[in-house]
Amino acid sequence: MSKQIWPTLTMGTCYYPEHWDESLWLSDLRRMKEAGISVIRIGEFAWNKFEPREGEFTFDFFDRFLDLCRQEGMQVIFGTPTATPPAWLTEKYPEVLNAFIDGTLMRHGLRKHHNYTSPKYLELCARVVTQIARHLGRHPAIVGWQIDNELNCECNTFYAESDSVAFRVFLREKYGTLEELNRSWGTVFWNQDYTGWDQVYVPRPTANGSQNPHMELDYIRFVSHSARRFCAMQAEILRQHIGEGVYITTNGLFGHLDNHAMTRESLDVYTYDSYPNFAFPLDQAFNHSALNDRSWSRSLIETRSVCPHFGIMEQQSGSNGWHSRMEGPMPRPGQLTLWSIQSIAHGADFVSYFRWRTCNFSTEMYWHGILNYDNRDNRRLQEVRNVGRLMKQLAPVAGADSKAAFALVRDYDNQWDGEIDMWHRRIQQASEQAVFEASQYTHTPYDMLYLQPETTLGDLTRYPVLIYPHAEILTPERSDLLKAYVEQGGTLIIGCRTGQKDPDGHCVMQPMPGLLAGITGTQVEDFTFCSPAEPPVTAIWNGETLDTPVFNDILTATPGAKVLARYASSFYAGEAALVENPVGKGRVLHLGSAFSVSNLRQLLAYTGVLSPWQDIIHLPEGLELTAREKDGRTFLFLLNYRSEAQSFTLLKSAASLIHGDLPAGQHTLPAYGFEVIEI
Ligand code: GAL
Repeated sequence: MSKQIWPTLTMGTCYYPEHWDESLWLSDLRRMKEAGISVIRIGEFAWNKFEPREGEFTFDFFDRFLDLCRQEGMQVIFGTPTATPPAWLTEKYPEVLNAFIDGTLMRHGLRKHHNYTSPKYLELCARVVTQIARHLGRHPAIVGWQIDNELNCECNTFYAESDSVAFRVFLREKYGTLEELNRSWGTVFWNQDYTGWDQVYVPRPTANGSQNPHMELDYIRFVSHSARRFCAMQAEILRQHIGEGVYITTNGLFGHLDNHAMTRESLDVYTYDSYPNFAFPLDQAFNHSALNDRSWSRSLIETRSVCPHFGIMEQQSGSNGWHSRMEGPMPRPGQLTLWSIQSIAHGADFVSYFRWRTCNFSTEMYWHGILNYDNRDNRRLQEVRNVGRLMKQLAPVAGADSKAAFALVRDYDNQWDGEIDMWHRRIQQASEQAVFEASQYTHTPYDMLYLQPETTLGDLTRYPVLIYPHAEILTPERSDLLKAYVEQGGTLIIGCRTGQKDPDGHCVMQPMPGLLAGITGTQVEDFTFCSPAEPPVTAIWNGETLDTPVFNDILTATPGAKVLARYASSFYAGEAALVENPVGKGRVLHLGSAFSVSNLRQLLAYTGVLSPWQDIIHLPEGLELTAREKDGRTFLFLLNYRSEAQSFTLLKSAASLIHGDLPAGQHTLPAYGFEVIEI
């Protein structure tokens, strides 16, 4: 478990003193405090306020502001400004710029147009961070540091010259010899063999955009490695200068980055930026039946896998919109509160709104904060105040762990392979979406569990059931861990194409499920995508229909294993589609297809983890349920994302943290309403 940074539920906001006339600072801080905001995040884009010209450092501006914060009792998270290199820097040292795949350099004017690898950028970032940390590291107003801003946001591909140079170093460390690199990347195919390291580059333009898949997989690993190193470099500097108890964080959650490793090696706590209003884009047809803003819960589940007691560094408080894209409506009355509670329901102990006041100029002038340009009190500030009051009522929840019925297992090899390999992507996306939806509709909360080198058996045994949908890439370490989990009594559920590949991304020359065959009691005899020319293939399980969508592995069971379901059509009608194999005190269920909401309902029911609170509460599919527990107390959060009221039924009386005692019977949640009950 991560450290508990926020002993009570804490409210914050993002503030940009450099955007406002100094005469506003004092009243802003006082109004924030009055609304219940006790922490602000500042500084993350303000490099020029510290180093307006190369090597000339000045601290007056933030000294003035931070001293005011101290005077007003406002706590501060200070951001290192490395996401926005100054114009003087990129003009003089263009090698620090990121490039598009064709080598064209990105230019000054937005943000995140730099790379993580040019020695010059690393040197200048180290210098500015050192200067800032030396000067402000012990400032009494500062309680935490944010490294950079949203590493890998805007852009998570890097094609600068320095990236190719660093990629070669990364590959030499990994492979030692070119022969080994050629083997791993299968360069004999289409005559791609390298005879000198200088011939190796990050991806470059090709005839139709496709790349060598093994190279691509290593490239994503390299991008993650570079971002982690960039973060670690800053963390190391900060740690030399900051006081005891001051924490280091960064805000995510973005692709091509092993957030788990980064957090473990560099951070005290991880934070997420939650913008559920992205669910209501104006430039796309709206899907009324989709989960919409409720889908942000999926990212929150992933965030708590990185850090169980996380914070929200940027919580949506107004409508979204750059002047050029991403337009969205203003959150409806109640939505700001609902999304804040959504974050808390999934494990956040800190919720900080983006941003205090809407900027009245530049790219984000329609990305609304709590206040509008006119700076008057408004209904969103009123809601923030109310969230502050609610946080007091929800005090017992601070530091509580999530309570999940099962875990969805992931690892970065398969996440990234699933991004670049179309076969893998199609099944992975379908199944992970199905797991989320099935969990939501059946009120069966789940955690995500990433298999990392540090993962222990104890991390797995917290869950009676693990679903590892399509681990195409298996390693002996991960397979052994899963075997130990099953032997001690766990239930492992896997889907099609498990064990198809090795860590290089080569298809192994042995039957699937490869390294897991020892525990699945299955062999894959043949396999195919479901044909668009045939009716959907299903299977029969105990006389009932079992969905077997997207892709079908045709299974055989080894002695001791039991065929639970057989395909009902296509050329493999009658063949095994679902096999159960007892192992030690546990079992493995091998489904030959992708997962769907419907087959997951059956599998979760079969394994005894479906709807764990159905004896206490009945909810419609339209309400979300999450659970947190602490010191033997369990708190259920019920959230209504819809614009109309919805009801739930308590089968016995319960205590609401908001409304006191709730008798057994039907209760109504208004539009965008929520309830928190202790059971
Ligand atoms: C976040 C970013 C903020 C702000 C916000 C709205 O991704 O961290 O700085 O840009 O989006 O666009």
